[in-house]
Amino acid sequence: MAPRAALRLAAMLLLCTAAAGLTATGAIKTLNNFRSLGAIPCRGNTRIIRPGLLYRAASPAKVSEPDALELQRRVRTIIDLRSENDARQDSGARLLAPRTTHVELLKRSVVSKRVKRLMLRQPLHAMPFLLFIFLRKLLPPLVADMHQRITSLIHRKLSVFIQSIELADVYFWILVHHGESLRQVILTCAEESAQPVLVHCTHGKDRTGVLVALLLHICGVSEETIAKEYALSDSWGCSVEGRAEMLRAMPPKLQEALDGCAQFDAWCGAPESTMRELWRRVARRYGSMDRYLDSIGINASTRERISAALTMPVAESPPHLTSYPA
Ligand SMILES: *[C@@H]1O[C@H](CO)[C@@H](O)[C@H](O)[C@H]1NC(C)=O
Repeated sequence: MAPRAALRLAAMLLLCTAAAGLTATGAIKTLNNFRSLGAIPCRGNTRIIRPGLLYRAASPAKVSEPDALELQRRVRTIIDLRSENDARQDSGARLLAPRTTHVELLKRSVVSKRVKRLMLRQPLHAMPFLLFIFLRKLLPPLVADMHQRITSLIHRKLSVFIQSIELADVYFWILVHHGESLRQVILTCAEESAQPVLVHCTHGKDRTGVLVALLLHICGVSEETIAKEYALSDSWGCSVEGRAEMLRAMPPKLQEALDGCAQFDAWCGAPESTMRELWRRVARRYGSMDRYLDSIGINASTRERISAALTMPVAESPPHLTSYPA
């Protein structure tokens, strides 16, 4: 074959693969908050995330049987960023559970440690709370009515306090406390033998959002585009179903108190400002996102390797793939 013809054939093949990547981004009806990271521009618009390698979603526990089959066809590795135990709380048939790997990104022990630390910094909240707990300990369980009243006071106090927690706080805890898990999942996503990869948690917004933000940053996606991609989860998060899922994931004893409070609604959303705030906190603590990645063992040469594996030059991709979000 003449070199020109060979080149044309190669270009055609690439076009077809990329187009297949695009069809692979098509919605899966029973999977919430599902999207591909393919075609996101990076490196000053000279490259894009290679289509067909990375997907993100809310928990697939409730997908229909045909959709479960379709997902198995499209995706080689499914990573759930929750513990197996937490995943079992999902309602639905959990058809993909046997094929799912778990890497926990927000351990309960971390949350409770952080909440305690925050509380100690706000004695006005902490004092009455500790007093109620102390009182409850003193009360003989026989005084059931009194006991119950104090318990409900404790829950109300706790929920008021919990409302001082912002999404960016939680995302920052994930970075600070789960560096090793993040490193592990990032490396898996860049591994050809694992691709295509689907990453999810409950909502597919917070834990998944933090991981995806890091991956995109490594690939040279701008902070602004990362925030926009993150914010695509907002409409699902704030939907009636999304809100209900979020509430279900909260500690049962707090659900009633949280439902209807303004901060809970804020937790359901995904505003761009939250991602920007996370970047500011990382800059304050680590100097930059790259220094953070250094600190978890993803150095400049590893980042370069990951970026090369996950991106492709714009020039090689068909024009309809280069605008994002489409
Ligand atoms: C970067 O990290 C990789 C993998 O951990 C390691 O093999 C390599 O030596 C590191 N490179 C530098 C320049 O530190």
